[in-house]
Amino acid sequence: MRIRTGVIAAVLMVATGAAAEDPRTEIKLPAEVRAAFMEHMRDHMDALDDVMVALSDADFKEAAETARERLVRGSGRGFGRYLPIEFREMGLGMHRAAAEFADVADAAAVERTAADWKETMAALQVISAHCRACHSAFRIQCSTAERGG
Ligand code: HEC
Repeated sequence: MRIRTGVIAAVLMVATGAAAEDPRTEIKLPAEVRAAFMEHMRDHMDALDDVMVALSDADFKEAAETARERLVRGSGRGFGRYLPIEFREMGLGMHRAAAEFADVADAAAVERTAADWKETMAALQVISAHCRACHSAFRIQCSTAERGG
């Protein structure tokens, strides 16, 4: 009993410590740029979901088009100069993964075998792996003043 309580306490301490210390690299953006950046990110989320909607309808063409229009076409929104090179490279990686997905989905639109499904889903996962990797590496600075607004 005693040992178990000790283990739980240790786990709780580790968990609390991890929450307090954010190991991600912080990026500072002016407030208005930050708002535009986050909006751009939410559009990424919408686009990724729309790709999945198309796939759940087995509409590979639509999935490819959505990815090309909204996830490949890029960031040229003026955020670049605020972002470190590592960040921009991860962004480019995501755009490339989306382009690769679109090609795979287009090819699958013709045949649509079980293997095509598998390849298309694998290519989709590579896109979200890029979202995930960047989110675990970077965060946007949020000052107390900005949070209040
Ligand atoms: C090159 C880096 C990078 C890539 C790639 C990336 N994001 Fe983000 N995203 C960020 C950062 C940084 C934040 C802010 C996180 C924070 O401050 O905690 C963010 C925030 C978000 C948010 C929160 C928006 C809000 O209003 O709170 C969503 C949703 C999101 N991203 C979705 C996505 C999706 C979906 C993808 C992939 C299709 C993606 N992102 C790819 C860096 C990236």
